[in-house]
Amino acid sequence: MQQEVPGQQTGVTVDFDRYPNAQQLLKRCQDFFAEVENLTPGRDLEVYLNENYGPGNGVYEDLCSLTRKGVEEGWAADVEISGPNYRRSKLAVPSEATRFFSITTVYFNSQEEFSGQHHSHPYGEINCVVQIDPTAELKGMQGWKTAWTSPGPGTHHYPQSRGGAVVALFFLPAGRISYSANPDDPQPASL
Ligand SMILES: [Fe+2]
Repeated sequence: MQQEVPGQQTGVTVDFDRYPNAQQLLKRCQDFFAEVENLTPGRDLEVYLNENYGPGNGVYEDLCSLTRKGVEEGWAADVEISGPNYRRSKLAVPSEATRFFSITTVYFNSQEEFSGQHHSHPYGEINCVVQIDPTAELKGMQGWKTAWTSPGPGTHHYPQSRGGAVVALFFLPAGRISYSANPDDPQPASL
């Protein structure tokens, strides 16, 4: 399995010619972007997504099932960050084709609370929670979630998981993410 170089931003790591399901996931992400591109990450969007794009919604179900296939087929979240239980892959860097969102998958597998790499999102983040185990959860700025989180612009956090295996399929406006924020820095007024 590939190993990530600490601190290094990666380009696209997925071989789309080899994996039709990766192409399909990219297409469904594009469909989702067409619907949400004018909305701003943050608390209100998190509520909106959990109410309108949760289980039973076609786009959400496809994002989840295709990401799970990606884990099985070995193209989603296949690059180790720190061992086999914390892995990542990059599906897209910002471009016109993705309305200038980046697309990344991160795999977490821990029953106990696990904290990943502290980071900030200068323009916010939209994060689709893809449960591998039905008890798994991810923590956003509004607490533990099983479908969507959306930290607002300028927020910073340790990405946290618990309850088993889960994938964060996340979208960053303009691909903006920073690993230089201090955990003690104040959070912005709006989370
Ligand atoms: Fe984050």
